[in-house]
Amino acid sequence: MNPTLSTRREQYEEDFPLHTHVPTENPSFDLKDGFSDRYVKRDESVDEKLDHILKWIISNRTDFTLDVDFVTLRGHLTKLLTTPYEDKEGWMFAVTKFRGTIYIDKVETEAARRDRDNRTERHSEMMYWGYKFEQYMCADNIESLPDPSGVVNTNEGYYTVVRTQIAEHKLLFSAEVDCRVREPKDPPSCYVELKTSAEIRTPLKRSDKFKLLKWWAQSFMPGVPQVVAGFRDRDGIVVKVETFQTAEMSQLVEGENNCWKPTVCMNFCNDFLTFVKDVVSEDDPSVVYLFSWEPRRDVGFTIHRDSQYGFLPEWYINEITRTDT
Ligand code: A3P
Ligand code: MG
Repeated sequence: MNPTLSTRREQYEEDFPLHTHVPTENPSFDLKDGFSDRYVKRDESVDEKLDHILKWIISNRTDFTLDVDFVTLRGHLTKLLTTPYEDKEGWMFAVTKFRGTIYIDKVETEAARRDRDNRTERHSEMMYWGYKFEQYMCADNIESLPDPSGVVNTNEGYYTVVRTQIAEHKLLFSAEVDCRVREPKDPPSCYVELKTSAEIRTPLKRSDKFKLLKWWAQSFMPGVPQVVAGFRDRDGIVVKVETFQTAEMSQLVEGENNCWKPTVCMNFCNDFLTFVKDVVSEDDPSVVYLFSWEPRRDVGFTIHRDSQYGFLPEWYINEITRTDT
């Protein structure tokens, strides 16, 4: 199967993404800096569901036809793509059909909630490190330089909206973009994903191969061509910055034991979407189909009517109903 990926729309351009500054010398960025005094942290207990992409759909209805089969978020597609190689974390998706379009949202599993509640201070600080790296690497515009003395605010983000196709399934989803390069100019070719990682040793360990799979899956779907990785020591100091081409990542693990193949990920995702289309028969946002999966199990589903799982907000249902002719 040769899936196509075509990107036709981008959004939230008023706040254009930041420009990447890849250091030419050894960087020694201290990722710990500012954790205790210059950090505004998003409240992770608030689940924004699909609200932002739904608002985007409403705002763009005059010059845009919702002619897709699925509406979702990039993170959910990343989870689906990596499923064939995942052996630790299961998932649960809430799915509902409204006016012919299927909406896919995530439900936090019990295990994920326990992990979130029991996060150690060390783990919370390490989560901050990824955002701090973004600050070291990004400037507001081409002329300026990054300002690591500022506040790291994880409530802020730039999102692109992508229309794409996997086999016969048409999808619309939003994806957070970390920053852009000066050339090429057009999205998504100008987009860059930033990542931090503990230093990778060769031969690659299984966890490092899996990390590359996650990086690939996250960037492949919205067509982000490169990932700039900051490798850090145990003390949170970035000692090396390296660029990886999304299209070449799978070749880095080729021939290794436990390697992964993009085709396997795409085929699974395609089969899952076909399965969902077959199962989700009722066109009614008060009916939610819960698809769940645990490692080494098959994907199963249950059906819920007028339950706590309904996730399409009333304002969205009313607006679409009012304007749909
Ligand atoms: P790293 O990916 O460099 O660790 P993203 O890379 O997806 O743009 O996310 C930016 C940063 O948010 C991550 O940087 C990480 O610090 C933090 N983060 C996002 N999702 C996370 C998760 N599920 N668990 C831990 N940290 C997360
Ligand atoms: Mg990132």
